[in-house]
Formats: sequence, structure tokens, C-alpha cells
Amino acid sequence: MNIQRPLLFFVLFFVTAFSTLNAAVAADYYGGSTDFIRSSCNTTLYPDICFTSLSRYANAVQQNPGQLARVAISVTLSKVHRVASYVSNLTREADYSADTRAASAIHDCFTNLDDAVDQIRGSLKQIRQIGAVGAGAGSFLFQMSNVQTWMSAALTDEETCTDGFQDVDDCKVKTQVCDRVSNVKKFTSNALALVNSYANKGMP
Ligand SMILES: *[C@@H]1O[C@H](CO)[C@@H](O)[C@H](O)[C@H]1NC(C)=O
Ligand SMILES: *[C@@H]1O[C@H](CO)[C@@H](O)[C@H](O)[C@H]1NC(C)=O
Repeated sequence: MNIQRPLLFFVLFFVTAFSTLNAAVAADYYGGSTDFIRSSCNTTLYPDICFTSLSRYANAVQQNPGQLARVAISVTLSKVHRVASYVSNLTREADYSADTRAASAIHDCFTNLDDAVDQIRGSLKQIRQIGAVGAGAGSFLFQMSNVQTWMSAALTDEETCTDGFQDVDDCKVKTQVCDRVSNVKKFTSNALALVNSYANKGMP
């Protein structure tokens, strides 16, 4: 067991490293150029994070702004979901903490992130329905306005989480939560920007 563990990590590391590399190589080889993603990301607040996290989907995205927005929402969902589960773990420890302010901020933060996950999940479901059979022009704008509303609500929920720590004394847990939530706020903000530019371009 003690001998197998490092080996497992070693194998996992290489599998992960090579599949990431393969995706990048495949994107170039099969003509899924990353130029479209680079220029679309240029309109977001955090272009580097945008490009780094989305360029591997160049093949699936091609030049399609709707597909790019879908992928951005999906990546955001998995990031926020992960941080929500991290904070959920912290709430259990916080219950035994002497710092009641921190404990209450952590609990509130989890509630907000949990809501954000629901909103982003709703956005993803909605944007996937766009272009479905029988959807007219009015319905594209209506569906996109739902996606925009829910993604901005998620961003607000994330902000409410970090705001809740304002009166908490500096501590390790505050830094850990705020750093992670600030990071997912960037992903959410970028996804919202890509959603907005898709909505402005009009019908798929
Ligand atoms: C990104 O935007 C800047 C100005 O905002 C522009 O100079 C640059 O050419 C753009 N890059 C791409 C790849 O579109
Ligand atoms: C939360 O705790 C569980 C059980 O201890 C652990 O398996 C999981 O990885 C933790 N999740 C995160 C995101 O830290």
C-alpha cells in the first residue's frame, strides 16, 4: 500500500499531463484554431484565465459564440461546485470553532455558493435548450435573458460570500475561502461576458 501510493500518483500525473497535451495538439491538428477563443476572451475582464481554461475546447467550439458561452458556463459550474464543497467541509469544522463570527461567515458563504451552483446549473440547462426545435426569435432573447439573469445572480452570491468576511478578523480560513471565491468570481464574470456577447450577436 505504502509503495503503491506514490506509483499511483505518478501514473495519474502522467495520464493527466498527456491528456492535456493531447487535447492541445489535437485542437491544432484538426483545425480547431484557438484564435476565435483568444479574440473572444479579449473582451472579458480576465482574458488570461479565460483563454487558459477554454482553449482546450477549441475543437468543440470552432467559431461558435453559443458553444463558447456554453463551455464557459460548464467550466464555471465545475469550479464553483468544487469551492462550494470545500466550504461545506469547512462548515463542519467551524461548528467547533471559538470564532463565532468566522463560523457564521462560513455558514452564510456556503448558503450563497450553494445558491450560485443552482443558478449556474439553471443557466447551463437554459443555454443548452437554445436552438432547440420550434424556438423562434423571441424565444432566443427570452432564453438568453434568463441565462444572463442567473449568471449575474451567481456572481452576486459569490460577492455576498466574500463581503460576509469583512468583519471577520484575519485568519487562515478567511484567506483560504476568500482566495478561492475570488478566483471563481473571475470565471463567473468571464462566462457572463461571453454570454452577453453571444446575446448581442443575436440568433444562433
Ligand atoms: C485584444 O485587444 C487589444 C486592445 O484591447 C488589441 O490590441 C489586441 O489586438 C486584441 N487581441 C486579439 C487577439 O484580438
Ligand atoms: C470534503 O471532505 C471529504 C471528506 O473528508 C473529502 O473527500 C473531499 O475531498 C473534501 N472536498 C473538498 C473540495 O475539499
